[in-house]
Amino acid sequence: EIRKVQGRRVWDSRGRPTVEVEITLASDVTGRAIAPAGASTGTGEALDLRDGGSALGGLGINTALAAVNGEIASLLIGRDAKDQAELDHALIELDGTPNRSRLGGNATVATSMALLHATAAAAGHPIWRYLAGSDGGVIMPLPEIQIFGGGAHAARRVDVQDFMIMCPAASSFSEALEWTAEVYRAAGDIMKRAGKLQGVADEGGYWPAFANNEEALDALVRSIEAAGLKPGNQVAISLDIAASEFGRGGKYSLALEDRKLDTADMIEMLGGWLKAYPIVSIEDPLAEDDPEGFKEFTSRHGSSCQIIGDDFLVTNAARVTEAIKNGSVNAVLIKPNQAGTITETFEALSVAKKAGFRTIVSARSGETEDVTIAHLAVGWGAKQLKVGSFSRSERMAKWNEVLRIEEVLGKEAVFAGWSALNLAKN
Ligand code: PGA
Ligand code: ZN
Repeated sequence: EIRKVQGRRVWDSRGRPTVEVEITLASDVTGRAIAPAGASTGTGEALDLRDGGSALGGLGINTALAAVNGEIASLLIGRDAKDQAELDHALIELDGTPNRSRLGGNATVATSMALLHATAAAAGHPIWRYLAGSDGGVIMPLPEIQIFGGGAHAARRVDVQDFMIMCPAASSFSEALEWTAEVYRAAGDIMKRAGKLQGVADEGGYWPAFANNEEALDALVRSIEAAGLKPGNQVAISLDIAASEFGRGGKYSLALEDRKLDTADMIEMLGGWLKAYPIVSIEDPLAEDDPEGFKEFTSRHGSSCQIIGDDFLVTNAARVTEAIKNGSVNAVLIKPNQAGTITETFEALSVAKKAGFRTIVSARSGETEDVTIAHLAVGWGAKQLKVGSFSRSERMAKWNEVLRIEEVLGKEAVFAGWSALNLAKN
């Protein structure tokens, strides 16, 4: 039974305020979680409710916090914490809007995750085990790790938002991190030698002081080689184009090169990259308002490349269902705060999995020490995890949490590897 619901203001990795919720059960067991925040958000996401006005750049969260400590606390106190779905649906009903705009998606997601923490703790299990159950194998996710950060996370220094690597040929999650550490270090050395080292972007990847997107791709391939690894066979490239940030109405503008493209040009350009570089995954290759473009791109490249909907699908089960019907992507990014509750997040993931779509549990660009998503990726068997780069502790906290889970599992830990991507060529 829930005895207390306490919301408090804490600060995220960009130094912005965010909502933390702590739930205490009658047994004194507590669960605590913090809402993350995106920068390149999809228009269909649950609303990250901000106060507006002049203080803190309008980013205050007092309204969302008041909802937690007022209406949400009143709703939950005295109820049995065990039925996550029932309580999440009660939250959705209490909010009463299609996108959590009254209570705030930040208020509901922090509450919903705190409930999960409390219930798992009451059951005496870490969240990953509580979700996975005790029988059946547990799959360690393939990490997708940023090396260069661009787009909205680096003042649009390059158009592409994430230049990432995946190490599907590693034998374990921990080896994948070790390879990533070598590539990340090599990338820093290469940038330093080229006089382009300018610190890191929002998710910890190097700030991309490159003349164009292709230069970043070339540097990434060289970094993999310099780390003594084989591009493609051992370490592959993964991109988040986040095209909604620079595309609308079928028109795309690459700021860096002052080029204007239409949907066909975008598909052509990305197809060229797929030929020239060992790319195995592309997220949001087109803008959220370009479903026909998505469909065309996926019909051309979907057998050799994972094509992920993020801003396009916003962790929404109905949108995922539509995308399955239309074949507009073959993979879904899963972000709890886009959906607004754990239950809705799980629905989106389940619909995708049932259709054979790949799933990637993902952090946001604004993060904290909260490691809930590491547990969700393992516990739900998502097979892939995207957390940002390989620096800054709000990122490393998640990678490190998966290492602890891997250690607990010992020989039972099965690394997803290439099977997570399930591509024709492998
Ligand atoms: P965001 O970026 O958290 O700023 O939306 C992450 C992503 O686009 O995957
Ligand atoms: Zn994205």
